[in-house]
Amino acid sequence: MKKVHIKTYGCQMNVYDSARMADLLAPLGYAPVEDAEAADMVILNTCHIREKATEKVYSELGQLKRLKQRRAEEGRPLLLAVAGCVAQAEGAEIVARQPAVDIVVGPQSYHRLPEMIANITRGARLALETDFPAEDKFDHLPEEQATSGPAPFLTVQEGCDKFCTFCVVPYTPGAEFSRPVEQIVQEAKRLVAHGVREITLLGQNVNAYRGRGLDGQSSSLAQLIRELTRIGGLERLRYTTSHPRDMHEDLIAAHRDVEKLMPFLHLPVQSGSDRVLQAMNRGHTRGDYMKTVARIRAARPDIALSSDFIVGFPGETDRDFEATLELVREVEFAQAFSFKYSARPGTPAAVLQRQIPDEVKWERLQILQALLNEQNQIFNRACKGRIFDVLFEKPGRKMDQAVGRSPYLQPVHVERAATMIGRMARVEIAAVLPNSLKGVLVQQHAARPAMVMSH
Ligand code: SAH
Ligand code: SF4
Ligand code: F3S
Repeated sequence: MKKVHIKTYGCQMNVYDSARMADLLAPLGYAPVEDAEAADMVILNTCHIREKATEKVYSELGQLKRLKQRRAEEGRPLLLAVAGCVAQAEGAEIVARQPAVDIVVGPQSYHRLPEMIANITRGARLALETDFPAEDKFDHLPEEQATSGPAPFLTVQEGCDKFCTFCVVPYTPGAEFSRPVEQIVQEAKRLVAHGVREITLLGQNVNAYRGRGLDGQSSSLAQLIRELTRIGGLERLRYTTSHPRDMHEDLIAAHRDVEKLMPFLHLPVQSGSDRVLQAMNRGHTRGDYMKTVARIRAARPDIALSSDFIVGFPGETDRDFEATLELVREVEFAQAFSFKYSARPGTPAAVLQRQIPDEVKWERLQILQALLNEQNQIFNRACKGRIFDVLFEKPGRKMDQAVGRSPYLQPVHVERAATMIGRMARVEIAAVLPNSLKGVLVQQHAARPAMVMSH
């Protein structure tokens, strides 16, 4: 048996792709392994979104090169592959910077990994595949092994046509593509048959989803969600990431009507300043965002909102930044991610005048994160004493402990619950810790067969 170590960077779509790469390699005799030292093949599934993410890949490759040399001396060769968005964006440049790399494969081409591995084994020096092949990757992937627990990701949409001026996504994963409803439903059914209880539908612009429906007409994300709720045994649905411009009426209505759709929405706004939003080419104003939030909250009053923010976009003044803080105070987010603007080669914002000095970005980030953390703590503290349905996903760090997620996506730790993994249970929140909730089991749902986990 050979071993493959897959290290995943970046967004959830990479997590999904890594799982599918593991599925692809299983028939070749590769079993997943946590430790690179024990592996016959290492795949870095990379992210290109910020400079730091890209640089991390090269420093990791430097270390892997030394491991590869050591292995060659021991007579046990190590295959080194770079997948994901850095592979797509930099292609052969990766090998120029790090010749130890054997395989470079883009996010649309990884279904070709088995051939590429065969080529290397037969003595090729490099296998590189970053052209978007005409055939659809999804038609060529094997059935999933469902080893990612009871609440996996499922990619339904890829790429982005929005061209925000700071962002590399429209250039790396490329043009928008939506999978047909039928294909998604079949995949979801297979997952549920393997014990899956919750699915998070993924896309860089998931609410712009427009796939071929069962009736041959184009289907919206809301229609896809309603179709998936018909799968017996699938108890929860989520989706991410959404663009404010694509938050249409039927999706908002789904938050009101569809019980299985969880009350959590990641809806990145990036900035609270109209001037900055315009320079970012976000296609909406601060007022539009506030109206959308109001409509969503009218439909689903308990919804927990999450966002992404960028501080220090070129030209951002103190007043612009203050407008972001005001928006945060007005909306009250349950959680959020925030980043210092990172100039990305080839994007329009990278060549704008008035780039912001790093100290200013850093200072703004500290202020914004303090406010967002405070809101996150307020949201979590309000959960004390409440009873939630928790879907247990994995063992905790302590003996007999299990960790699951609340409807609001908060991690919940429960003692004496290890047998609950793969199942849903009522949990009373007993304490609020800095990064998670601590709960106690209230009563079990009607008996359901425990999930057999294959790892
Ligand atoms: N499609 C999603 C975002 C995907 S990228 C959306 O439109 O919201 C995830 C997040 O990374 C973005 O929301 C943004 O906050 C951040 N990001 C993207 N490009 C960045 C850059 N050049 N510098 C800093 N942060 C960036
Ligand atoms: Fe990037 Fe904007 Fe597309 Fe999101 S919507 S992926 S931020 S270009
Ligand atoms: Fe990064 Fe690619 Fe996702 S650039 S954020 S891994 S789509």
